Amino acid sequence: MQTTDVTVIGLGLMGHALARALLAGGRTVTVWNRTPGKADDLAGAQRAATPEEAVTASELVVVCVSDFAAVADRLGKAVTLVNLSSGTSQSARDTARWAPDGLDGAIMAAPGGIGTADATIVYSGDRAAFDRHEATFALLGGAVYLGEDHALAALHEMAVVSLMWNLLNGFLHGTALLRAAGVGAAGYVPLAAKGVETVTGWLAAYADQVDAGDFPPLDATLDVHVAAMDHLIEESRHLGVATELPEFLRSLTSGIDGSQGYAALVERFGRPPGR
Ligand SMILES: NC(=O)c1ccc[n+]([C@@H]2O[C@H](COP(=O)([O-])OP(=O)(O)OC[C@H]3O[C@@H](n4cnc5c(N)ncnc54)[C@H](OP(=O)(O)O)[C@@H]3O)[C@@H](O)[C@H]2O)c1
Repeated sequence: MQTTDVTVIGLGLMGHALARALLAGGRTVTVWNRTPGKADDLAGAQRAATPEEAVTASELVVVCVSDFAAVADRLGKAVTLVNLSSGTSQSARDTARWAPDGLDGAIMAAPGGIGTADATIVYSGDRAAFDRHEATFALLGGAVYLGEDHALAALHEMAVVSLMWNLLNGFLHGTALLRAAGVGAAGYVPLAAKGVETVTGWLAAYADQVDAGDFPPLDATLDVHVAAMDHLIEESRHLGVATELPEFLRSLTSGIDGSQGYAALVERFGRPPGR
């Protein structure tokens, strides 16, 4: 095996996009994938026969697989291990015990965005490793270093996927209301996008309230939101659309002082230690 700049382990949809962007950026790349053949269209990539061989070809080893635990014990010789596979913060801490000089990362993009400004990848762990390889990470998209605690990247990925699924379920419930009334979803998209933009504008002030543990109403009280939730439940029932989602949202508000702002709901999801 020749020595290369980067090794990529895992050539699924995402790993393949990572390897392609690294090659396009002029890096020499070694790849390994469990199922052979996935490197066939990666011209210039050196193929390793085993993960062990792949790990010794480069100082920087990027792993992107859907089952990190299945390959973890074959990566022990990596000098700088960067795990971009999704996982929990506890799993990132476990990996840091045997790879303290590496990084855990989380990809906030779809494969098509890799290598463009649309992609952001967050990293946490060894600062020196991030600094040493930042120019290579920049080939994959925006590279953001979150801190020395290896858990931070996975933690932020979990926070983002929580946002994503809640947002998408709200969108899909909205389309179900329209569909039940014989209205197509396409016309709803500009309004939905405007709604997302409006809510985006609220996030910084809500975050300040969450950090402070104090929730004065900014524009509407929780009571006003609850009245609108009741309308949504009634509308759903009337149209024969499932009411679980709005009923669940309504149930989250019970027992919370309705004169506060919406961010007071965070208390339903848990309180920070000591508060
Ligand atoms: N796709 C996205 O939009 C996206 C976005 C952000 C983060 N991610 C994360 O990126 C990671 C990979 O996702 P993906 O979209 O590339 O998934 P994918 O297309 O399903 O590919 C999965 C990859 O993992 C490998 N793999 C699975 N189990 C394995 C095992 N037991 N031993 C060795 N290799 C194994 C597969 O190898 P084979 O080819 O042999 O099956 C393949 O290379 C996941 O953690 C995912 O959450 C993906």
